[in-house]
Amino acid sequence: MEVNSRKMKKPLRIKIISMGNSEVGKSCIIKRYCEKRFVHKYLATIGIDYGVTKVTVKDREVKVNIFDMAGHPIFYEATVLQNFIYTHVRNEFYKDTQGAMLVYDVSNRESFEALDTWLAEMKQDIGNPADMDNITFVVCANKTDKKRVIDEIDGHLWADSKGFQYFETSAQGGHGITDMFQALFDGVVTAAENGGRKVPVVMQLGYTKEQVDAIQRLKNGKDNYEKLGLPNNPSKDDINRAFRKLSVLLHPDKSVAPGSEEAFKMLVAARTSLLKSATR
Ligand code: GTP
Ligand code: MG
Repeated sequence: MEVNSRKMKKPLRIKIISMGNSEVGKSCIIKRYCEKRFVHKYLATIGIDYGVTKVTVKDREVKVNIFDMAGHPIFYEATVLQNFIYTHVRNEFYKDTQGAMLVYDVSNRESFEALDTWLAEMKQDIGNPADMDNITFVVCANKTDKKRVIDEIDGHLWADSKGFQYFETSAQGGHGITDMFQALFDGVVTAAENGGRKVPVVMQLGYTKEQVDAIQRLKNGKDNYEKLGLPNNPSKDDINRAFRKLSVLLHPDKSVAPGSEEAFKMLVAARTSLLKSATR
């Protein structure tokens, strides 16, 4: 009898959900990936949309069930009136989730600040909060084609702090969408093959929060004193001390934190200007 040496792995079914405020582009991201098109007109998702797509991950056929949630609070408020249905639907929605896209709009600060609330709500509704640890999350900083108010550093840092992968996406142009879905599917399939336990993505940032804070202060400080973290009317010694401390953190030869090079230039310019006006 002939033995089939190349045993095919069994097809897998996985459950993916979308989360994030209304109008951040959740449905458009899914449409861009599944249908390769973009819809300009806003069509709010009512309740939850459901779709299926098939992909191949690690030589394995994967049937992806995608649940696309409405971000508008009106759906929660309305359902609070029918508390039983509300609880039931939300539990069903979150239950058995293996992968989740956390989406925000880079041109809308509120949508970024809401990410923690979405996670907290999921934890509360999922039934067993420990299940959260085995869900693969990816963060989508969407609408990168628009004028942004949340820069890449802030988004990346938030994702890193949670141990989630971060992607810059544009459902309009398609940028980052395939990479994001691939990472999401890869994470979920790897966990499924590991008995349902998530395998942590090794985060090798190579930079510290202190460096990121210093870069942000240099970028956003309202004057040179604030940029260098100095009081008004500092002495030349104060200025040079602050400069040395920051240059150790931010010198482009030493720092790989995003934005180091620009921040270092700002630091040099701020120091020169402050030394010129220093009186002692
Ligand atoms: P709800 O279903 O209400 O939760 O919203 P949603 O998050 O599903 O948003 P949706 O995908 O419907 O997109 C909202 C609006 O943003 C639409 O008008 C889209 O055309 C627009 N949009 C989505 N993604 C992008 C993007 O990457 N760039 C730009 N410029 N617009 C986008
Ligand atoms: Mg939608």
